[in-house]
Amino acid sequence: MVNLLLSQRNVGFFHLLFIHIFLKGQDLDGVLPPSLAKLPYLKTIDLTRNYLTGTIPPEWASTRLKFLSITVNKLSGPIPSYLGNITTLVYMSIENNLFSGIVPPELGSLVNLENLILGANNLTGELPKSLTNLTKLMELRISSNNFTGRIPDFFQSWKQLQKLEIQASGLEGPIPSSISVLSSLTELRISDLLGEGSEFPSLSNMTGMKRLMLRSCNLSGPIPAFISEMTQLQILDLSFNRLEGKVPDFEGLAYLQNMFLTSNLLTGPIPDWIKSRDSSYQIDLSYSNFSESSAPPTCRETLNLFDSFSGQDNLTLGGECLRTYPCSKDRYSLHINCGGSATTIGNIEYEGDQNQAGPAKFVPNTASWGFSSSGNFWDVNSNSDQYIANNVSILRMNNSELFTSARLSPLSLTYYAQCLANGNYTVKLYFAEIVFRDNKSFYSLGRRMFDVYIQEKLELKDFDIENAAQGVDKAVVREFKAIVSNKVLQIRFHWAGKGTTAAPERGTYGPLISAISVESDFSPPNDDKKIFIIVGAVVSAILVIFMILGFLMWKIYIGGRISREKELRGLDLQTGFFTYRQIKAATDNFDAANKIGEGGFGSVYKGILLDGTIIAVKKLSSKSNQGNREFVNEIGMISALQHPNLVRLYGCCVEGNQLFLVYEYMENNSLARALFGPDEYRLELDWATRQKICIGIARGLAFLHEESTLRIVHRDIKTTSVLLDTDLNPKISDFGLAKLDEEENTHISTRVAGTIGYMAPEYALWGYLTYKADVYSFGVVALEIVVGKNNMKYRPNENYVCLLDSAFVLNQKGNLMELVDSKLGSKFNEEAVRMIKVALLCANSSPALRPTMSAVVNMLEGRTVVHELITDPSIYGEELRFKALTHPFDMVNEADSLIQSLDST
Ligand SMILES: *[C@@H]1O[C@H](CO)[C@@H](O)[C@H](O)[C@H]1NC(C)=O
Ligand SMILES: *[C@@H]1O[C@H](CO)[C@@H](O)[C@H](O)[C@H]1NC(C)=O
Ligand SMILES: *[C@@H]1O[C@H](CO)[C@@H](O)[C@H](O)[C@H]1NC(C)=O
Ligand SMILES: *[C@@H]1O[C@H](CO)[C@@H](O)[C@H](O)[C@H]1NC(C)=O
Ligand SMILES: *[C@@H]1O[C@H](CO)[C@@H](O)[C@H](O)[C@H]1NC(C)=O
Ligand SMILES: *[C@@H]1O[C@H](CO)[C@@H](O)[C@H](O)[C@H]1NC(C)=O
Ligand SMILES: *[C@@H]1O[C@H](CO)[C@@H](O)[C@H](O)[C@H]1NC(C)=O
Ligand SMILES: *[C@@H]1O[C@H](CO)[C@@H](O)[C@H](O)[C@H]1NC(C)=O
Repeated sequence: MVNLLLSQRNVGFFHLLFIHIFLKGQDLDGVLPPSLAKLPYLKTIDLTRNYLTGTIPPEWASTRLKFLSITVNKLSGPIPSYLGNITTLVYMSIENNLFSGIVPPELGSLVNLENLILGANNLTGELPKSLTNLTKLMELRISSNNFTGRIPDFFQSWKQLQKLEIQASGLEGPIPSSISVLSSLTELRISDLLGEGSEFPSLSNMTGMKRLMLRSCNLSGPIPAFISEMTQLQILDLSFNRLEGKVPDFEGLAYLQNMFLTSNLLTGPIPDWIKSRDSSYQIDLSYSNFSESSAPPTCRETLNLFDSFSGQDNLTLGGECLRTYPCSKDRYSLHINCGGSATTIGNIEYEGDQNQAGPAKFVPNTASWGFSSSGNFWDVNSNSDQYIANNVSILRMNNSELFTSARLSPLSLTYYAQCLANGNYTVKLYFAEIVFRDNKSFYSLGRRMFDVYIQEKLELKDFDIENAAQGVDKAVVREFKAIVSNKVLQIRFHWAGKGTTAAPERGTYGPLISAISVESDFSPPNDDKKIFIIVGAVVSAILVIFMILGFLMWKIYIGGRISREKELRGLDLQTGFFTYRQIKAATDNFDAANKIGEGGFGSVYKGILLDGTIIAVKKLSSKSNQGNREFVNEIGMISALQHPNLVRLYGCCVEGNQLFLVYEYMENNSLARALFGPDEYRLELDWATRQKICIGIARGLAFLHEESTLRIVHRDIKTTSVLLDTDLNPKISDFGLAKLDEEENTHISTRVAGTIGYMAPEYALWGYLTYKADVYSFGVVALEIVVGKNNMKYRPNENYVCLLDSAFVLNQKGNLMELVDSKLGSKFNEEAVRMIKVALLCANSSPALRPTMSAVVNMLEGRTVVHELITDPSIYGEELRFKALTHPFDMVNEADSLIQSLDST
């Protein structure tokens, strides 16, 4: 082909005086033309990215070439020794071919050589000693070969070296200490060294270093402080070693944009300088032994703390700020369409996995699984869509939906599943090579190789999808057994430096995974079918949360840098993202006339979107981190939980520090306003409506407590947090205070959040928080609904503190009828008394004696009888209970002093 070009078509073009030949990316096939040697003045041959075979013709030995690049071709056989004759050579790259055998000693004669690039071939043996004659060498790259022996100690001769790359070369460690003389180095990349380890080599003279990688080099000891003198440093990758001790202070390294300390034995706190870096810095500290107490209070999308802490239990592998939700139910299977959207195959639902990964990112995709992505693609501009590959031609395999998108990783990608029932599982990994082609083109010259670990055990080594599937765009499924013993399953894909990195483009390498399927080898207990359906539904909802979460974090931290307008264009009701402009327009620039309330965190406005949808916008006033966290908390929970008796969250909007939540608009405002509002707002609620409202709230709570996988204690049930829609259906709102039921046994909350008059005594006094605190508050609300009076404001005479108090007394006297709202007439007295009895059961001072919300629903709906109220000789004493109900200031302090005074008597 090239012959043809030279001899016929381009005969006029390739003049005898021709000096430079650049034929890059042309997909030329055939062999290298010997006739090129006849061009006496030829200085440059650049045939990068073609499909040339054979070897370098002997005729070329007589040329006076300075520059020779045959990068990304299909040349094979040994490197010809006669190349040593082209002593004029300054630059030589044979990267990404199929050269095999040894590096001929004759290359030592190329004394003018400054750049020698031999990477991604199949070279073996030791590097010849003659290479020490290449004293002008500035760049040496020998990665991904099959050399043997130790890294040779030639550095004394290569003092001019600026770039040295030895990744997965086959050579063994340790790194010779003489490397310290290479004071001109700006880029040092050594990885995947076999053999015994060493301490960190002395690189203290390399103050011009820009990119430093010593990955998988079996380095032990501390990270040396001299790195902080490398003021030009941009990338530092010390991942997969055995480095110990603290992370030194690199605060002064202003250009250090990427730092990977993944998988080491680092201890001590996570330094403040790391926590305070802004989100443009990618820092991966996953898999280490930092002290958990140093986990930052706020999370950053570009700081990966997956499994970073020592002594953490399996539910908090991500540390506090990456905590995945606790499991309420065991799972027995998991199916993920990696990099792709949710899809159903047969009767198996593969969950979607389209979240953008990043160089240092943990993505808690749903309550029960997530992934940790570490590493950046070297030698290319970083770009987040490098982490997902899409098919470039039509896929014809069965179930092609699983293969059209796949997740990629430049270093390490862990899929992390929790909540799996313990036992034996079958793990199936679905692969298809959808990036490389198999045509006669340089698109077919890539070789992808990676490793797979399941539960930390190496299951696939140097796995090559194309080889395994015998072609591209073909599926290959590998099956493994895994034992889950602490509910957690980890599947990790790791690039160990093998294969090619430049075909078809630079930065094409690393593991590629299309889908994962995990199924238990045992059958789940019977009642779990139902749970799976709920889990499935919730899981997809949670997916939405985390997309919002991801977006939010991104907005909060990076938001300022990128044109917000551009990013938000086109987002609307369906996607859950609103522009500030939309919100402003909808609420008439937050016109006071549109203000409909003052919620827990700020004002609420009514708004109308262009399509006519009426919305409620909650404008959060808090600018502190705490506020943001609450906000994120609220968003996540509400959008995950959809139930007819929970207020629907449409989405959110972030503008600078301003945060907005967009809810469905509730025509009839709050239950508080309907019951006790000013006359013009008060509603005449008949008995059927009151009953519907009561049962609705109970159902909403029963869902939160018992049915949702998140299991939420609302903490602040009251008449203002119950909203009414057009048909007066009740919906619970204000989940900002709701907190997850954390560990099974610790119910002690550090911060009491609730409202006087509705708060359960044990919560107000001791901060002791369980679902029963909500049951108590529900009791108060139910009582208010029947009586039509506000608990706090009802004081018929000095003997009673509040409505609830009167109710207890009247119940003892058998006189409850007195309390029922006179507006209801006497027709429903019996049912009303029954409801009050339920309310009193709920408001029992002892949490243990309160019913669960599902039992309450059953009682209210008349399916079960209402138990007689047992008044408990309360552990807190009646006096304390009434204090808790009535005292208008800080309950906890008040309680403390009361307890002290009780103790001292
Ligand atoms: C590399 O050479 C070995 C034999 O030394 C051979 O088995 C292997 O297939 C070669 N690899 C490639 C990618 O050509
Ligand atoms: C290095 O070059 C010198 C002459 O320039 C030669 O004598 C010597 O043999 C060479 N060394 C090797 C190891 O090839
Ligand atoms: C490396 O060489 C060894 C024999 O020396 C061979 O068994 C192995 O397959 C080679 N590896 C590769 C990746 O070519
Ligand atoms: C650093 O350079 C100085 C002077 O060039 C030299 O004396 C010293 O030995 C070098 N340090 C190391 C660790 O090589
Ligand atoms: C790392 O080095 C130690 C000795 O320093 C050796 O015992 C160990 O086997 C090495 N690990 C690997 C993975 O080569
Ligand atoms: C990817 O594969 C799907 C399924 O075969 C096909 O519909 C789609 O057109 C393919 N995409 C491209 C870019 O060829
Ligand atoms: C696709 O599925 C059909 C029917 O199940 C089967 O006969 C066929 O062999 C499958 N094709 C491949 C490529 O697996
Ligand atoms: C689980 O697998 C292990 C190892 O493969 C085996 O020894 C054990 O018997 C299996 N357990 C069950 C319950 O099948």
